[in-house]
Amino acid sequence: MRIEIEIERSNPAEGQPARFETFRVEVPRHITVLDTLIKLKNEVDGSITFRRSCRSAICGSCAMRINGRSGLACDTLVEDELHRFGHLRVQPLAHMPVMRDLAVDMQPFWNRVEAVNPWVETAPEREPAWPVERETLMDQAAVDEMDDTSKCIMCMACFSACEVSDVDTRFLGPAALAKAYRVVADPRDERKQERLTALNEVGGYWDCTRCNQCVQACPKDVKPMEAIVHLRREAINAGLTNTAGSRHITEFIKIVRSEGRLNEGRMPLKMVLSDPKKLLSVLPLAVDMLRHGKLPSPIHPPIPRVKEVRRIMDKKAK
Ligand code: SF4
Ligand code: SF4
Ligand code: FES
Repeated sequence: MRIEIEIERSNPAEGQPARFETFRVEVPRHITVLDTLIKLKNEVDGSITFRRSCRSAICGSCAMRINGRSGLACDTLVEDELHRFGHLRVQPLAHMPVMRDLAVDMQPFWNRVEAVNPWVETAPEREPAWPVERETLMDQAAVDEMDDTSKCIMCMACFSACEVSDVDTRFLGPAALAKAYRVVADPRDERKQERLTALNEVGGYWDCTRCNQCVQACPKDVKPMEAIVHLRREAINAGLTNTAGSRHITEFIKIVRSEGRLNEGRMPLKMVLSDPKKLLSVLPLAVDMLRHGKLPSPIHPPIPRVKEVRRIMDKKAK
């Protein structure tokens, strides 16, 4: 089939800004986006720049934005893209400086991964003497718990897709937080509390908006957003309840338990009453909403069969 592919090209080192260049090429029907790029590079324009290695969705090198979505070029069929979007456009991953064409400087991603110390740490006194006589055995349940996060191939597709990373450079991002959960969930690690405390700050697990983009972008089913939710749960269980995020969860549960549904008038009050500064900052908005009849009443009775909701919640908690 004869196709058209638009490639975003740039060379910042030589002052060439980003622009789209269109190539027309004859390709076999089931060709991948990566093989199309390789064909163009070999046969049409040797200066087209991109990363690749395995061509088999293993090494994580070829991630890029294809028709706006971040993913692996070697795992994406041209035909599927044309069928879905009617065109084929490739761009470099987002949130990292472009080095040339589709190759980005990965340092911002690696800085985040490094920041979570993604390796198991034991207390010095428990370090086994060398040579180690035998391996450390783990039970299967512990392995299953961190299995998804162990599948990460560091392709950066999730980081590129992340909506918070779009607006907040302090956010550690999905892959780094998934790595953090990998070690928090590892029974051999002895820094769990320290790790959870560090990630309880700005840029950590509470800054995720749960948009799910990372889950959709990930080619290896790591499900970074789920790992972030697990980190939040671990943090609350570890007594780290001093954040707006954890208060939101605990108050949400309390309200549903007492009234059988969310009370949208009471919820914001619960969130700001313990923080006078926040209370003052939202007061003008609350007055404005009240004037326009948009402030829901914080007082309403529980739903008729609230006991059933409590029974379900108790069952779920067991
Ligand atoms: S779910 Fe969270 S980490 Fe994942 S892309 Fe959205 S904001 Fe980023
Ligand atoms: S979590 Fe998935 S998308 Fe993100 S870097 Fe790892 S493999 Fe790639
Ligand atoms: S080339 Fe290795 S993942 Fe695509």
